[in-house]
Amino acid sequence: MSVPETQVTNDELSTRLDTSDEWIRSRTGIRSRHIASPADSVAGLGTEAAVQALKSAKVEASDVDMIILATTSPDHFMPATATQIQQNLNAKNACAFDIQAVCSGFLYALSIADQFIRTGSASNVLVIGAEIMSRMVDWSDRSTCILFGDGAGAVLLGKREQPGILSTRLYSDGAGYDMLYSDVSDAAFPRGKVVMNGRAVYSTAVEVMEESIRAALAQNELDVSDVDWLILHQANKRIIESVATRLGLPFEKVVVTIESFANTSSATIPISLALTDLKRGELVVLSSMGAGFTWGAAVLRW
Ligand code: UT7
Repeated sequence: MSVPETQVTNDELSTRLDTSDEWIRSRTGIRSRHIASPADSVAGLGTEAAVQALKSAKVEASDVDMIILATTSPDHFMPATATQIQQNLNAKNACAFDIQAVCSGFLYALSIADQFIRTGSASNVLVIGAEIMSRMVDWSDRSTCILFGDGAGAVLLGKREQPGILSTRLYSDGAGYDMLYSDVSDAAFPRGKVVMNGRAVYSTAVEVMEESIRAALAQNELDVSDVDWLILHQANKRIIESVATRLGLPFEKVVVTIESFANTSSATIPISLALTDLKRGELVVLSSMGAGFTWGAAVLRW
C-alpha cells in the first residue's frame, strides 16, 4: 500500500469548516486521512503499491502479463493511468487498462483478473486500487469532504493449482445513479465534485453487502462461522459494524482501517489487506458498495 505523506486530522478540518472531531468520529469512525500534495499522482501511488506487491510475491515486473487499475480519479481521462504504471514498472510484457466501478472497483478488477487466470489467458496479474479523491471533493462541503482520503493498494494474482479466490460476485443497479455522482456543472471543478445522498447510500450499503456476502458464502457451501476475516469497503465504521452485526460475525474478525485513512474509494480494500496479518489458509471475505450503485463480494482462501 502507499499513501501520501500529509495527514489531515479532524481537528485541522474543523478550523476551516463548521464541523468537529466529535461529529466526524461519532458519525463515521474517521480520525484522520492522508491527502495528496500537488506532486502526487494516482500513477505514482499505484506504482509504489505495485512495487511492494511484486516484491512480496517475488515476481519480476517483466513476468506480469496484465495490470488492472481500479480508479475513479485517473490522472487523465485518457490514456488509462494503468499504462503510466506499466511504464513506471517497466512491465513490458503486460497489457494495462483502467476500470471504473467507483468504491467497488477493486472487487471488479479482482474478478476480471480471476477470470483471465482461470481461463489460462494470464498467469500474473497486478490488481491495483489507487485514488486521489481529494481532487474530486468540494472542500467547502462538510457533508462530503470529511469522508475521503487518498491512497493506493495492490495485489499480485498468480496462477495456482488450488485457486485462492474461491468466487467473486458482482452486481450493479443504475437506479442508484444519481445518489452518488460527480457534478461537472460547476466550471470551478473540472473533474466534478462529489455529490451524495448519504442516508440512501448508507442504508443500501448495509443491505446489499450483507446479501452479497451471504450469497457468496452459500455459493461455496460455507457459513458465516467459517469466516476468519471480513474486509469491507471503508466508507463508514457504522456501516461496517451494522453489516457484521447482521451477519452475526464477532467484531474481532472485522477489519477496520477507516480511522487513519478514511474512504479511499477503490483503495480501501487493498489497503486493508496490506494492514491485516493474514495467515495461510484463512478464509477472507471481501465486500464493497459504491456509486452506480455497484457492489459485490469475494471469498478467498489466503
Ligand atoms: O464510498 C461510497 C459509499 N459511501 C457511503 O457509504 C457513505 C454513506 N453515508 C454516510 O456514511 C452517512 O450518511 C454520512 C456520514 C455521510 C452522514 O451521516 P448522517 O448520520 O447520515 O448525517 P446526515 O447527513 O443526516 O446529517 C445530520 C446532520 C445535518 O444537520 P441537520 O440538518 O440535522 O441540522 C447535517 O447538516 O449533521 C450535519 N452535518 C454535519 N455536522 C457537522 C453533515 N456533515 C457534517 C459535518 N460536521 N461534517
